[in-house]
Amino acid sequence: MRSIAIGFVLLTAGMAHQAAAQAPDGKTLYEATCKKCHGVLGTPPKTMKQQFPKIATFDAAFIAKHTEDSIVTILTKGKGEDMKPFKGKLTPVEMAAVAKYVHELATRPRP
Ligand code: HEC
Repeated sequence: MRSIAIGFVLLTAGMAHQAAAQAPDGKTLYEATCKKCHGVLGTPPKTMKQQFPKIATFDAAFIAKHTEDSIVTILTKGKGEDMKPFKGKLTPVEMAAVAKYVHELATRPRP
């Protein structure tokens, strides 16, 4: 019984350590992988809108229709011809962090 308890403590300590070491920064990932098309604040630059008329703007209306989970699904599978899947480029944990950041962007005031 006692060894089970010790095992559990070691296991949970190990998981906490891993989570801290892996916690990816959604903002850094977004700026490295999404910004060039979707814009620094989630509003795509004009040139991108011309190139990709269907490109998404991350605003309140967008977020109302896209949960963080649904964004992860889009990142995994891609959408249309131009939104390529990020599977293999971002880990599921990184995708979740980016999705969370997209939600944060949408609630910010825009210029
Ligand atoms: C090469 C440019 C490009 C990059 C880089 C890019 N996107 Fe997109 N994204 C697009 C285009 C174009 C669409 C519109 C696709 C369509 O509806 O046909 C889109 C659509 C989306 C959508 C909405 C899909 C829907 O259901 O309407 C989400 C969410 C999204 N992108 C998130 C991201 C995130 C997060 C990243 C970074 C990890 C990213 N994109 C990187 C071009 C890009």
